[in-house]
Amino acid sequence: MNSELNKIAGGVISALLVIFGSQAVIEMSSSSHGEHEVVGYELPKPDAGGEGGGSGGHGGEAAEAPAAFDAAKVAEMVASADAAAGEKLTKKCKACHTFDNGGANKVGPHLWGVYERAKGGVDGFGYSDALKGKGGNWDAESLVHFLHKPKEFIPGTKMVFAGFKDNKDLADIVAYLETLK
Ligand code: HEC
Repeated sequence: MNSELNKIAGGVISALLVIFGSQAVIEMSSSSHGEHEVVGYELPKPDAGGEGGGSGGHGGEAAEAPAAFDAAKVAEMVASADAAAGEKLTKKCKACHTFDNGGANKVGPHLWGVYERAKGGVDGFGYSDALKGKGGNWDAESLVHFLHKPKEFIPGTKMVFAGFKDNKDLADIVAYLETLK
């Protein structure tokens, strides 16, 4: 009975050896071969071998390579973009921004003259420290990048807007913003 169990144990160990081939399993199997008095039902658990096997899982890094967003490239499209189409897109902004000359601040600062204005440059508007600290003036490339993903361009901004994915939309709306002067 015991010897049969030992055979089974041996078989399992050999199988593990073949499967895992790890140093830990080799040690276990040689010690249990030497101790025939030890009852055979102490089968080594496959996971008892510590780093045995390495589980063969693949990294699973699927090759998803969407064309990387390139703000500079989209900014180049602004000169020939469709400002009228961009104006229509401001529907998404108007809950928080005004676009007319002399317009008020709402949830966000008024956007008349935002192009080439200092970032965070509207007096009296309570900007986030993140936006105030960004520095420089708004140009086509920074507007494109900000409106693509506000929180990526300015981590910590309090502008809650997901951003435009479409390059043409981005170029169009920035073209429209440039007309506000
Ligand atoms: C939910 C409200 C909300 C929406 C929608 C929104 N914004 Fe804003 N926006 C803000 C807030 C708040 C700020 C100030 C952010 C800060 O201080 O971090 C801001 C800041 C900005 C700035 C920087 C202005 C400056 O003076 O530096 C620009 C440019 C801007 N928004 C453009 C847009 C455009 C274009 C849209 C529509 C596509 C839009 N925003 C949609 C709330 C909003």
